[in-house]
Amino acid sequence: MTKIAPSILSADFGRLGSEVEKLEKSGADWVHVDVMDGVFVPNITIGPGVVKSIRRFSKLPFDVHLMIVEPEKFVDAFADAGSDIITIHLEATKDVRGTLKKIRSRGKRAGLSINPETPFSSIVPYVGDLDLLLIMTVNPGFGGQEFKTECLAKIREARRYASDNGTVFDIEVDGGINSITGELCVTAGANVLAAGNALFGSGDMRSEIAKWKSF
Ligand code: DX5
Ligand code: ZN
Repeated sequence: MTKIAPSILSADFGRLGSEVEKLEKSGADWVHVDVMDGVFVPNITIGPGVVKSIRRFSKLPFDVHLMIVEPEKFVDAFADAGSDIITIHLEATKDVRGTLKKIRSRGKRAGLSINPETPFSSIVPYVGDLDLLLIMTVNPGFGGQEFKTECLAKIREARRYASDNGTVFDIEVDGGINSITGELCVTAGANVLAAGNALFGSGDMRSEIAKWKSF
């Protein structure tokens, strides 16, 4: 079944604890946490201290998406804060393999993300070191952007690679996901949908998630 990871970037930051708390009751599978540094992306969000303080509001896995340069410097801090999955960007570090290995050495699942303009072929050298591939379907930095349809081909390519090579990793998509684009991504081979605006802005997150899970 498709996993749904609401992005708390679209939550009310003034009451983040209760926003996170309601996700489990809404049927979400993971809590998607967007970490931005104002350097890798032109926006700043939250750091490990906030992750640590919202951790107690949910038992769901925390899917922490690091949009920061030199993520290797912060693996320990986000692991200590209670992350379950730590995803780094291929474009953000000179030591992709070392950082993925460091995440796994902390007993966490290692994710690797690529921006829309980065080809699938660039992650192939790292398939043995990752548990999750996060395919960005917008340029990272902000919620509420329009889904880039051209990314569907990359999702298909990733799914084909995984089945041809008998490799198992999650294929997550992030950016502009709604009930229409989400279904397109699942049909193309994604098994995890991260979404902010379409879920937090839906008014009825529970029924929206139920619908998405059946894609
Ligand atoms: C974008 C973030 C996304 C964002 C998605 O840089 O990585 O997780 O919150 O927001 P929506 O679903 O509104 O595009
Ligand atoms: Zn994200």
